[in-house]
Amino acid sequence: MTNGMTKDEMKRAVAEAALEYVQAGEVIGIGTGSTANAFIDALATIKHKIEGAVASSEATAKRLKERGIQVLELNETGDLSLYVDGADEATKHLHLVKGGGGALTREKIVAGASRKFICIADESKLVDVLGAFPLPIEVIPMARSFVARAIVRLGGEPVLREGLVTDNGNVILDVHGLKIMEPAKLEAELNNIPGVVTNGLFALRPADVLLLGTPTGVRKLT
Ligand code: 5RP
Repeated sequence: MTNGMTKDEMKRAVAEAALEYVQAGEVIGIGTGSTANAFIDALATIKHKIEGAVASSEATAKRLKERGIQVLELNETGDLSLYVDGADEATKHLHLVKGGGGALTREKIVAGASRKFICIADESKLVDVLGAFPLPIEVIPMARSFVARAIVRLGGEPVLREGLVTDNGNVILDVHGLKIMEPAKLEAELNNIPGVVTNGLFALRPADVLLLGTPTGVRKLT
């Protein structure tokens, strides 16, 4: 609870604020997590206006279908006009860390295919420097130890996320101990390690708008 407003209420407020970006007849890209779920619930109230949605995870596809929103495949839709998703950390430069829910690869694909990326989060996600939240990296299972050693050489402490297999059949290494001063450089460097599918830094393709839930209302950063 923050000044009488719960985190859930802040998530609902930013989810409703994001509806403003939805245009009639569009297919919307949708992220994963509790804030993205709040957006799905808000979107369900105007579902007759849109053509459908592209999901960034099996969990999101399920929730969309349960709310009567048609789920389309990215291979069929082509590029999208809008992608809406949460984040684990965000800076005022709209660089993000994502993947707390393990859906980072499909999230990055759908974000990359979208002309506008609206990131929605409660204000606790805003940080000066990324890295306090362990950086998720999706890795091909047979490359797990090799990638972990390469990450140690880069100064990180990788920890296997126990019991998690991604929607793509891979594993996640959560990298602790990073203070990410150059997000775009590190994003490219990590993606160059053989066996890395992708990492949770969204700096090469940052958000275009960050809507932050605060106790006094929704704050917009662009
Ligand atoms: C999932 C994500 C989520 O956007 C991130 O974990 C934030 O989740 P929440 O909205 O539940 O705080 O990247 O892979």
